[in-house]
Amino acid sequence: MYQSILENQRQKLDLDEPIIRDLSESDLNQVLEISKESFIIPWSLKSFINELLNQNSILKVAELNGEVIGYVVARKIVDEAEILSLAVKKDFRRKGIATKLMKSVLNEIKDFVKSCFLDVRVSNEPAIKLYEKLGFKKVGIRKKYYLYPEEDALLMKLDIS
Ligand SMILES: CC(C)(COP(=O)(O)OP(=O)(O)OC[C@H]1O[C@@H](n2cnc3c(N)ncnc32)[C@H](O)[C@@H]1OP(=O)(O)O)[C@@H](O)C(=O)NCCC(=O)NCCS
Repeated sequence: MYQSILENQRQKLDLDEPIIRDLSESDLNQVLEISKESFIIPWSLKSFINELLNQNSILKVAELNGEVIGYVVARKIVDEAEILSLAVKKDFRRKGIATKLMKSVLNEIKDFVKSCFLDVRVSNEPAIKLYEKLGFKKVGIRKKYYLYPEEDALLMKLDIS
């Protein structure tokens, strides 16, 4: 019995388990760095602040031992939602962090929206695989949607209800 109590305590104190929480203003420097290392055209501080001020937006970070290691930005539009940005710090990729961030957003919107959309570069296999694993389906192509380099976007959709 003592052993199981100790095991429970150990799990509660497990420092290797990231937490997913709402993004706050004090996270912005770290989030900007992650965006910079993840995208050719990273989001600006102004873009993040605009979303923080938008009541329909959902912004979450993954935090590990006090360090921000990933973020996701989504927005609700009537009965739909859109994933606007998602990135995980390079050293922490392939550990299920993006999956956790996405599940947290999907859990928060599941009672309010019927479907969730996102755009992704057609060459971005890691992201496409992640979204497919979460149940998103390929529903269209937006020709030459991205710049630097110019590339088509794959439009993906998750039916929620
Ligand atoms: C795409 C990204 C967010 C994935 O983050 P992550 O935390 O590494 O993803 P997860 O560990 O949750 O991966 C979940 C699944 O996605 C797929 N996946 C993720 N990275 C992959 C890779 N490099 N190659 C192939 N499949 C990959 C796998 O199926 C993986 O499951 P598995 O590890 O059990 O095989 C991350 O690579 C990233 O930040 N990329 C740069 C920014 C970006 O492209 N964002 C998306 C824009 S639409």
